[in-house]
Amino acid sequence: MKIVTVVGARPQFIKAAPVSRELRKWCKEVLVHTGQHYDYNMSKTFFDDLNIPRPDYNLGLGGGTHGKQTGAMLEAIESVLMKELPQGVLVYGDTNSTLAGALAAAKIHIPVFHVEAGLRSYNKNMPEEINRVLTDHLSDLLFCPTDVAVANLAKEGITKNVYQVGDVMYDAFLENMQIAKSKSTILEDLDITRDSYILVTVHRAENTDNPNSLGNILSALLQLDYEVVWPLHPRTRQALEKNNLLGKLEGAEHIKVIDPVGYLDMLVLEYHSAMIMTDSGGVQKEAFFLCKPCVTLREETEWVETVECGANVLAGTEVERILSAVEEQSKGGRALGTEPPRYFGVGQASIEIGNVVHYYLSSRDMLLEFYLQDLVD
Ligand code: UD1
Ligand code: UDP
Repeated sequence: MKIVTVVGARPQFIKAAPVSRELRKWCKEVLVHTGQHYDYNMSKTFFDDLNIPRPDYNLGLGGGTHGKQTGAMLEAIESVLMKELPQGVLVYGDTNSTLAGALAAAKIHIPVFHVEAGLRSYNKNMPEEINRVLTDHLSDLLFCPTDVAVANLAKEGITKNVYQVGDVMYDAFLENMQIAKSKSTILEDLDITRDSYILVTVHRAENTDNPNSLGNILSALLQLDYEVVWPLHPRTRQALEKNNLLGKLEGAEHIKVIDPVGYLDMLVLEYHSAMIMTDSGGVQKEAFFLCKPCVTLREETEWVETVECGANVLAGTEVERILSAVEEQSKGGRALGTEPPRYFGVGQASIEIGNVVHYYLSSRDMLLEFYLQDLVD
């Protein structure tokens, strides 16, 4: 059996690592990297940290507008699929690479398997929301990380072949946290004090492409009484430069602006932080796994459980709201203790995905055999 997996952006490499290992126990996996992320520290470093096999294809399709990027990916992935003729195509999350992979496969009748199905922000201004809704509606197997995701799909009439398997990011996290602690030297390299700093990540288009929001986030960070570590996403660096804000940021003594870091270094930075401020989906969840107070720089989140239980506060992008969310979280405004509720499963999502895909493809094979036998008889 052959499956094509399509990845392209940083979080997809992390999600694919544990699933890929499961699939390769029983099928041939052809790995397609669209090239959406291409810098060493946005791409190759994750393959090295997580021992992900080299991609069989690198399409080199990073940059450009949404239409240009997604269109070029669609065409290139279709060519790969026509050549490889896999029994299924596996896609992750909600990026342009996800949508291109799902659409290319669905159009030529290859089953689509979507990992991280059913997430919704109900904000169609986000490119991710468009990508995930369309991908879910094209998919033949839908792997949901949470009960909320299953319910979201049901609201749209999708109830068949929906599996709540838990979150593959939790699998990756559990596998790698100890390894990260033993291998990473990031704290010494940056000369920062454990448990005293706020770790920040920002990359959402709604924040970087809106000078007002970006300026507000920066103003709030400049007013913090904490040391701040900020691994800067390339999109955010470009936006800060464009708005003449980078100099201001780099001039702030309490803020360490660094390049994006590898996964193991990131886990250690998260583990030793006092608090996390982010607009990233993955980082919100990792804060939750680590029982770290989180301030989310958005008006809504797909990971609503983390907010409902008090671990995460939605602060939007107004300066005063951000500062009061930090204040609230610093007073221990959450009641999680050291063991987070198991909203995201128990770290077995990749095994379950492997089993379901195996079963699905084997039954299709059997059906095909019966059908062919029928024809012969
Ligand atoms: C993408 C995803 C987003 C995901 C994020 C993870 C879409 C629409 N967005 O956003 O859902 O949360 O990845 O990080 O798919 N760039 C570089 N080097 C790189 C990668 C990007 O310089 O290695 C720059 C390029 O100028 C590029 C810009 O960053 O045009 C944005 O990259 P892109 O992949 O289009 O979107 P992200 O903001 O990374
Ligand atoms: N991450 C990383 N290095 C960084 C920033 C993030 O390894 O400098 C990891 C982070 O730990 C998480 C994932 O990247 O596992 C989240 O990806 P990102 O924030 O780019 O995208 P999102 O999850 O919002 O789609």
